[in-house]
Amino acid sequence: MTAAPAQRLVEFTAESLRARLPEALNLYVSAMGYPAGTAQQRAPMWLAHMVRIGWRCVGAVDSQGALVGICYGYQGANGQWWHEQVRRGLSAVASPPVVDEWMRDYYELTELHVSPQSQGQGIGAELLRALLSGVDNERVLLSTPEGPTRAWRLYRRLGFEDVLRHYQFAGDPRPFAVLGRTLPLAPTQP
Ligand SMILES: CC(C)(COP(=O)(O)OP(=O)(O)OC[C@H]1O[C@@H](n2cnc3c(N)ncnc32)[C@H](O)[C@@H]1OP(=O)(O)O)[C@@H](O)C(=O)NCCC(=O)NCCS
Repeated sequence: MTAAPAQRLVEFTAESLRARLPEALNLYVSAMGYPAGTAQQRAPMWLAHMVRIGWRCVGAVDSQGALVGICYGYQGANGQWWHEQVRRGLSAVASPPVVDEWMRDYYELTELHVSPQSQGQGIGAELLRALLSGVDNERVLLSTPEGPTRAWRLYRRLGFEDVLRHYQFAGDPRPFAVLGRTLPLAPTQP
């Protein structure tokens, strides 16, 4: 007899994620190693993201039903804070056709987190694949603090390339990278 998997993926609607928002935000805070108070600060932003075009969210729950991973994103568009920040940064280093190629039709991977005790089992990769399998934009873009980190290794394995490096978003002193790739992901990639 085959053992039941330790976790399964679930697709959240905005309504079902709202019902589990404190749990999801606590997971985010523990994965990122942020102070506990950060969870509440982020709630309004996560709620606002849920109504954006193309918003999709996939979670991983363990055999007890607890959330151990979460991943969401939406379609990038003019006027969104992140979009305008990336456009500003990319426009400073790339020609208008290159900026347009990356930014005309992309999906923003906004959050991807796996609880520390569940990392290293392939959940992050599975979440990302499941989320992006339902996306029909030309490209996917994301930002991540400059590495090397486990997240970097995952993105590189999945074929993400540099779009912008050592970039400072307004209001955050840390250097970030913006990474991207065309969609869909090849099914055979690890
Ligand atoms: C980045 C993150 C989401 C990746 O999730 P994850 O579930 O740990 O990712 P995976 O398990 O798919 O891959 C992680 C490692 O486990 C390994 N792995 C995957 N399945 C495995 C298995 N069955 N057995 C052994 N190792 C395995 C992978 O090869 C990978 O190794 P590496 O990190 O040395 O390259 C997670 O580490 C995380 O939440 N980090 C903190 C938050 C964060 O940085 N989020 C991204 C912000 S942009």
